[in-house]
Amino acid sequence: MVTEKDDPQYQRLKELRREIAFHDYQYFVLDNPTISDYEYDQLVKELHQIESEHPDWTTPDSPSQRVGGKASERFEKVEHPTAILSLSNAFEESDVRAWYERISRLDERVKLADYVVEPKIDGLTVVLQYRDGVFTEGATRGDGLVGEKITANIKTIRSVPLRIPIDQTSVEVPAHLAVRGEAFITLPDFENLNMRLQEEGNKTYLNPRNTAAGSLRQLDPKLTASRPLRIFIYDIVSGEGNLPETQKEQLEFLDKLGFPLIPWEYCKTIEGAIQAALKWEERRNDLHYEADGVVIKINSLQLIADLGVVGRDPRGAIAFKFPAKEVTTQLNDIRANVGRTGVITPYAVLEPVEIGGVIVKQATLHNYDFIAEKDIRVGDRVLVKRAGDVIPYIISPVLASRKKDSQPYEPPAKCPACGETIERLEGEVAYYCVNAACPAQLIRNLEHFVSRGAMDIEGLGIRIVEQLVKANLVLDAADIYSLDKMSLLSLEGFAEKKAGNLLNAIESSKGRPLSRIINSLGIRGVGVRTASDLAKHFSDLEELSKATIEDLTMIEGIGPNIAQAIVDWFQLSGNNQIIQKLREASVLPAADLSRETQRFPQIFEGLTFVITGTLQQFTRDEAKQFIESRGGKVTGSVSRKTDYLVLGSNPGSKFSNAKSLGVRIISEDELLKLEE
Ligand code: IVH
Repeated sequence: MVTEKDDPQYQRLKELRREIAFHDYQYFVLDNPTISDYEYDQLVKELHQIESEHPDWTTPDSPSQRVGGKASERFEKVEHPTAILSLSNAFEESDVRAWYERISRLDERVKLADYVVEPKIDGLTVVLQYRDGVFTEGATRGDGLVGEKITANIKTIRSVPLRIPIDQTSVEVPAHLAVRGEAFITLPDFENLNMRLQEEGNKTYLNPRNTAAGSLRQLDPKLTASRPLRIFIYDIVSGEGNLPETQKEQLEFLDKLGFPLIPWEYCKTIEGAIQAALKWEERRNDLHYEADGVVIKINSLQLIADLGVVGRDPRGAIAFKFPAKEVTTQLNDIRANVGRTGVITPYAVLEPVEIGGVIVKQATLHNYDFIAEKDIRVGDRVLVKRAGDVIPYIISPVLASRKKDSQPYEPPAKCPACGETIERLEGEVAYYCVNAACPAQLIRNLEHFVSRGAMDIEGLGIRIVEQLVKANLVLDAADIYSLDKMSLLSLEGFAEKKAGNLLNAIESSKGRPLSRIINSLGIRGVGVRTASDLAKHFSDLEELSKATIEDLTMIEGIGPNIAQAIVDWFQLSGNNQIIQKLREASVLPAADLSRETQRFPQIFEGLTFVITGTLQQFTRDEAKQFIESRGGKVTGSVSRKTDYLVLGSNPGSKFSNAKSLGVRIISEDELLKLEE
């Protein structure tokens, strides 16, 4: 009998899955990619190709299923295989020694015990289950007995193996394995995410832990996937079969299976463990994630079990907490920054204070809603926290020491940079300065325009940008290309050579690829990633400027807000002038004619299509590409202007709309026949 297993394509599919999982491991766990992004993308493309031809071959552990889950309305409750315990705390070295004395009296084996010391990650506990090596369930800790099922969200974390072991080593995988770890967001990722949210006019997060929690509890896994979550595994909660007997062996075993492992140190004695813990505290600021202490664990799992549990805390391990990096100080003033999209962000001016060895004078206040919610007032004593390299932030006012004559804070009505009126957009937390000529915005915009991911003009830093704006040499980004030597020489600090170098750098930035041009425009919500998605769909700025909201929202990853921002941007005449000027200065790249759009006879020219239901031979994207590459347009909803509705199985309301409007309804086969 011929089975699918004999099919060479099936064999190739299995090989691709293994390869992709291996490269994910190299990249996300070991931080050591061994192939280029391009080569990786090719593997993924081939996998998708085979799976779309054979949907029945798709399995839940396929790398294509990382972001496959549907949005749910609420999370199901799940019982953990065993109770997910907590830890008791020690705050001083003497507390650790007292703990040691206590348990030594309970069991004399403690005197001979060895230890493992790990950082205590300030994240969210998760429990992952594997059956026959396949990831089957992810849950939050909940109350320790029952958690919430967040399987689809956990799957989006790329360092979580969907199948273990990750490579074909000879480790024997238990038939059932439940592991425990901590999900978190690194400090740099947290700052980048907040910056993006702020630019898009969205609420920023308070701290990395909060962000990790919020991201893991999103009902739509697509949102979780867009968050930079990571995970460290440190424990086997339960399992069937031959399991390690010490914490050290347990960690080594988890490592072999391919889990992203918590950093750890083995110590022969309690003295060694305490010294290791103190060393961790010293290095605390060098970590790129937040740790609120270290965990000292007795190495023998049997001894831990025998020592028993007090309440929810096992006696055999203890959390040695670092001193909190929180202090109180006086809030002297609330000021604001103006970003490149005009977002006005408040910040606190503090009475200088030391937090964890650093003098802090300013702190973020997130947005004006935050100030109102916490009722933070100028003159208050405030509780300030500094976490790693993250900009310090205000937690709350200290109400007990509030002055009697203090007044609630009123957000400013005028832009602090240009004095024009401030507006608030509906549904957004941010306040905006809407003055297109606001110098603060112009400076931020230019800074972005010339930056690495955009036009990448070397030597054009913030100082020079400010000089150019102050001297009125540059009124918009396109003016950069009409600078000449004479005008540059009029600026302080510019001599022949510096001016020449800058002009050369400006000249060589002409003709950068479309994705960089799009990014450089500074459209709200459009960063490097969205810009490159857009560049794949449009051959030049001209075409992009004509796109409708429907066209744009058909592109994966572009929601209605960003689509609206793009359409709005191209509607402003000032922006069109900038584009015109860029074109005249030969800054724009030639239209990309290599695109598929040009290869087929344009038989659908002028026709508008809508697709509904599930198609058999195409995915949605493929059908869209098929139509667009032949000159047709695909929109998201049926109107009188629709020429054809392509009908798949289980159609939505578009089907009845089309019928009532008398739109021609065709099947997938008929669509293909139109071409003949
Ligand atoms: S061991 C019986 N190790 O800290 C095992 N916990 O206050 C108990 N945590 O709820 C946990 N890093 O979420 C352990 N390396 C680590 C940890 C860790 C973070 C969290 C964990 C726990 C809490 C205890």
